[in-house]
Amino acid sequence: MHFRSLGAIFLAAALVFATGAGLAPKVISAQDAAGTPAFYTERVAPILQKNCASCHGGMNHRGGFNMATKAGMQKGGKDGVAVVPGDPAKSLLVRLMRHEGPADDPMNMPPAPRPKVSDADIAVVEQWVKAGAMMPDDVQKP
Ligand code: HEC
Repeated sequence: MHFRSLGAIFLAAALVFATGAGLAPKVISAQDAAGTPAFYTERVAPILQKNCASCHGGMNHRGGFNMATKAGMQKGGKDGVAVVPGDPAKSLLVRLMRHEGPADDPMNMPPAPRPKVSDADIAVVEQWVKAGAMMPDDVQKP
């Protein structure tokens, strides 16, 4: 076998490999994924369900804030809008979770003695707000 045909076989193998790789699932960047309603359902809702729903879901709308529906989430509470799409720093929901005020601030969410939400989970919520706070229209939970 000549070197030239060996090279051709090699090239063909490389092409097959490249085509195969093209069929692999597309890698979606975290930023893209965070801008989808599915990101809310799969990543954000479980965090709110675990830490907030007992006071802001179902029949309970403490502070006038109901997270159980998209309308409630967009309306916010007695102090107004809680989620500013694209701007976590202006979103009360994020700021209260981060405990930006004093440690004994009654507005820290969830309120003491409940534990602060983990940094990793707060980061997920921030990422979601930053990417536009997309939600499905028929939010069921929290
Ligand atoms: C144990 C009950 C309880 C839990 C759990 C709880 N909250 Fe609250 N939340 C309250 C109460 C009570 C207020 C009203 C506080 C006040 O006005 O002094 C409030 C107010 C708020 C407000 C402000 C509404 C407004 O317009 O004034 C936001 C935003 C909020 N909570 C977000 C959250 C988030 C996010 C979580 C979960 C990480 C959470 N809360 C968990 C009881 C709770």
